[in-house]
Amino acid sequence: MRNDIVHPGADELTYAIREIVVVGEELRSMGVPIYWENIGDPVAKGATVPDWIKHIIADLVTSNDRSYGYSPTQGMLETREFIANARNREGGAQLTAHDILFFNGLGDAIQTSFLYLHPHSRVLGPNPAYPTYSSAEAAHADAPHMTYKLRPEENWQPDVEEIRTKVREDKSISGILIINPDNPTGTVYGREALEGIVAIAKEHDLFVISDEIYSNIVYGGDMVPLSQVLDGVPGIAMKGLSKEVPWPGARCGWMEVYNRDADATFSRYIKSLVDAKMLEVCSTTLPQMALPRIFQHPKYAQHLKRVASEYSTKANVFVETFTPVEGITVNRPQGAFYASVVFNDGVLTNTQTLPIKDDAVLARITDLVAEAPLDKRFIYYLMASTGITLVPLSGMNSDLHGFRLTLLERDMDTFTDMLQRVAEGITHYLRS
Ligand SMILES: Cc1ncc(COP(=O)(O)O)c(C=O)c1O
Repeated sequence: MRNDIVHPGADELTYAIREIVVVGEELRSMGVPIYWENIGDPVAKGATVPDWIKHIIADLVTSNDRSYGYSPTQGMLETREFIANARNREGGAQLTAHDILFFNGLGDAIQTSFLYLHPHSRVLGPNPAYPTYSSAEAAHADAPHMTYKLRPEENWQPDVEEIRTKVREDKSISGILIINPDNPTGTVYGREALEGIVAIAKEHDLFVISDEIYSNIVYGGDMVPLSQVLDGVPGIAMKGLSKEVPWPGARCGWMEVYNRDADATFSRYIKSLVDAKMLEVCSTTLPQMALPRIFQHPKYAQHLKRVASEYSTKANVFVETFTPVEGITVNRPQGAFYASVVFNDGVLTNTQTLPIKDDAVLARITDLVAEAPLDKRFIYYLMASTGITLVPLSGMNSDLHGFRLTLLERDMDTFTDMLQRVAEGITHYLRS
C-alpha cells in the first residue's frame, strides 16, 4: 500500500474467548476430542428457548410484515416506551423513549460507543476484563486499556480507593465502566462499591457505564441497577436479549441513557451515537417487536427464576469441586454464568506439564507454550491432555493468572465430570 491503511489501534483488537478456538480446531484435526468451554452462548450449550417465546416470534414472523421492515433509528417506539415505563416504575433515574437506543447486540453498542468517544477520553474498566470492552477502549485510544482491580480475595469486589486514585491522577479518565453481574468473575457489585464509584464520578465530572446484560441472572448478592444509585450523574446501562431469553442470534441490545441532560458534553456524545446509528439506518426489528411480549408474558418471571436456579446449583458444584484444590483461589459466582479460578502467586512455573499421549500434539503444544503467559501455558496443556478449552485470565486484560469457565453445560453429569477433570488437571500440573 502506498499509505499505511492500518488503524493505529489495530493491535489492540484481541478476543481471547474466540482466539483459543483456532488452537482448539487445530488440536481437533489432530484427533484431540475438544470440549468447548470458552464461549458464553447458552444456545450453543443446549439451552432450550421456551415454546411460548418461540410462539411469540413465530406469530410476529407469520402475521406481522412490519417485523421484516426497518425500524426507526433508535428502535421501535412502542418498545422503547415499554422499557421506559418499566424502568420508571422501579424508581431511580427516570427515562423517556428518547433516552433509549437499540443496537445490533451489545457488541455493536460497545464498538460504536468507543468509536465515537473522543480519542483522548479514557474509560476505566475492570480487570479481569470482558475483551470486547477492553479491546474497543484500547483501540479507540491507541493505548493499553486502563483498568481497576476486581479482587479475588474480596469476592471479586472492586477496589474503590484504587479507582479514586486513578481518576484523580489521570485527567484523561472520563468514564468508569462496571459489568454487573460480571463477566468473567460472576461477581455482583455491592451497593457500597456502586455508590462509591458514582460518588467518584460525581466529584470528578465523569459518566458511568454499567453493562447489565446479566441483570436478570442473579443467584447471590443483591443486584443494584445503575439507575438506582446515580444521584444525578450521567450514566448508561447496557441491556440485551442474548443471555436471558436466550437469543444471542437476534443481535439485540440497547442502551438506557440516564441524566442525559445533566451535562451538555455527555448529551452531545449521546447524540453522536444516535447519529452514527442513523447512518447505519437502524438495528434488528424482529427482536425489538418481540421484546415487550416476552417481558410481559406471565411465564417470563418463572423462566428467569428457573434459569437462575440452574446456575445457582452449578455455582455450588463449582465451589465444592475447586475449594479443596491447593494452589488456587475460588469464589462462588453470584450472577451471570461464569466462574473464574485464580492461581495463587508463585505456584505456576514454565516447566510444569500434563501428560500428552500423541507425539504430534505434544510437539505442537511445546511450540505454542514457548511464548505463552503462565496461565495460557496451563490452558494449552489442559486442552491437549483433556480436550477442555478454557479462557486464560491473561487474555482478559488481567495481570492475574487463572482462567474462566462457564456454568452453561446442561447435563449435570457432564458438567460435574468436566469440573472434576479440570480440578485434577490443576493438581497434576502444579505437582509435575
Ligand atoms: C458483559 C457482556 N456484555 C456484552 C456482551 C455481548 O452481548 P451481545 O450478544 O448483546 O452482543 C457479552 C457477551 O458475552 C457480555 O458478556
